[in-house]
Amino acid sequence: MSESFELHSQRAARLIAMGQMAASMAHEIRNPLGSMELFCTLLKKDLSSQPDLYQLAEQMHESIKVLDRIIANCLEFTRDRSAKLKTIPSVEDYFAQILRDAGPKADAKGITIETELVGELAPQADPYLLKQALLNLVFNAIDAAAEGGKHVKLFSNTSDSAAWVIKITDNGSGIPDEVRERIFEPFYTTKDEGTGLGLAIVHSLISAHDGTLSLSSEPGEGTEITISIPQPSGANGGQS
Ligand SMILES: Nc1ncnc2c1ncn2[C@@H]1O[C@H](COP(=O)(O)OP(=O)(O)OP(=O)(O)O)[C@@H](O)[C@H]1O
Ligand SMILES: [Mg+2]
Repeated sequence: MSESFELHSQRAARLIAMGQMAASMAHEIRNPLGSMELFCTLLKKDLSSQPDLYQLAEQMHESIKVLDRIIANCLEFTRDRSAKLKTIPSVEDYFAQILRDAGPKADAKGITIETELVGELAPQADPYLLKQALLNLVFNAIDAAAEGGKHVKLFSNTSDSAAWVIKITDNGSGIPDEVRERIFEPFYTTKDEGTGLGLAIVHSLISAHDGTLSLSSEPGEGTEITISIPQPSGANGGQS
């Protein structure tokens, strides 16, 4: 075995060990963090008549929630995934679940989300993994649209039996070239409370489906993300 190969594999083994350690640390940190969040909620109840102190407890509570999201996303990012394909009998119902989960954030920012469905075939995907990917993309679209046109669209086309195509469009801030180069890097974010793991997770979830993701964006005009999920041949027989 050559020396450089040995160094390379030692480094790879060390990186794997570090990844495992980070994942178990993240897991362990979540328990005390959960207790802290609960205590903060109780503290806020006691401090309701003392606005200055309540405000401090509220800030602590918000910071705990940010930490929890960073840790949840780190765990998600390190997880080894394989897509378990299932038939999605109704894309309309599937999108409705996503709209329900994204609704509170969209409402809080005054965003409307529209859906458009083309095609009659019942596509296959891992419903849980794909939902996570789509929610991350819809959340990004809502954040961007909040600074622009306030409109997000979720589009599905199941007319091609070879691939399910989904597009997430917003008429928000768009992505400048210097940001665009880095958006899939883990921990890269332009947001005060972002973890920068959203798109890195989306990338691995779509890869788990052997799918592709492409992006077109115009600063000041908006962004369109297109996902294509290949369909097993003969799997599209069921009508939605
Ligand atoms: N639809 C979009 N319009 C404009 N910019 C976007 C859009 N989607 C992603 N970005 C840019 O890409 C960056 C990385 O996105 P990513 O989802 O990975 O992390 P984040 O959204 O910043 O944090 P988190 O996902 O944890 O909330 C964002 O900070 C933002 O600058
Ligand atoms: Mg995001």
